[in-house]
Amino acid sequence: MGKLQDNVAIITGGASGIGAATARLFVSEGAKVVLVDLNEEKGKAFASELRALNADAIFIKTNITNEEEVANTFKQTVETFGKVDIVFNNAGIGRVHPSHELEYSEWRNTVNVDLDGVFLVARESIREMLKTGGGTIVNTASMYGWVGSPGSAAYNAAKGGVVNLTRSLALEYAEQNIRVNALCPGFIDTPIIPEESKQALSQATPMKRLGQAEEMAKAVLFMASDDSSYMTGNSLIVDGGYTAQ
Ligand SMILES: NC(=O)c1ccc[n+]([C@@H]2O[C@H](COP(=O)([O-])OP(=O)(O)OC[C@H]3O[C@@H](n4cnc5c(N)ncnc54)[C@H](O)[C@@H]3O)[C@@H](O)[C@H]2O)c1
Repeated sequence: MGKLQDNVAIITGGASGIGAATARLFVSEGAKVVLVDLNEEKGKAFASELRALNADAIFIKTNITNEEEVANTFKQTVETFGKVDIVFNNAGIGRVHPSHELEYSEWRNTVNVDLDGVFLVARESIREMLKTGGGTIVNTASMYGWVGSPGSAAYNAAKGGVVNLTRSLALEYAEQNIRVNALCPGFIDTPIIPEESKQALSQATPMKRLGQAEEMAKAVLFMASDDSSYMTGNSLIVDGGYTAQ
């Protein structure tokens, strides 16, 4: 029996990168997955691919910054699969821009997706989990929720916010059996990292390589499953040693 047998998991950013790798691992552990993403083409194709492997998988196009769409996604999930046990709250965007040239609209857009969107999905998760007696939420922050870096002020501020949002929600709902933890990846080889930056980012990492999305998925599985049953409010940094420097 899989570690997530018959659990229902919503995965935001599930069409690509870390979210997609986690969906693959979750279905291999017996979960039913709901892929949530803005990218309809990739999301639909990936859900079909998982169904072809006999997995229960659906795609729901959702913008995580839209309250109504987020609420509808949870409603549709419950209508389809009956409940929500796990939410991997992972969708995000990131751009590098010198701060003195950063337009306020760009700052707002980054914080809107990377912090506000994470809150909206977490709030809906908690509303649903309170009805059914609990669940687990894994928010994707970043090692840049812990350390700074030049040129990513909005992203880093939002990710630092996710780290403390995680602690705060964990404390607020610990007695209701809702565990809330965060994944803090280092540089991971996904489409969010521009091709031309990969070499330099590998060199900046003590292990001298980028992480793989599958290596993040294993950490997410740990936090989402009973393997971490006494862990809440934590942020797991998985970064090839970057923040140990
Ligand atoms: N790859 C890295 O190096 C790295 C490092 C630290 C943290 N992260 C975080 O990991 C998470 C996943 O990123 P990834 O590396 O897999 O990148 P990715 O670009 O492959 O995946 C992100 C997904 O989120 C979706 N998305 C973006 N905005 C959305 C919105 N408003 N609503 C719904 N979906 C939206 C995108 O369409 C995309 O499919 C992000 O939160 C990112 O900040 C990534």
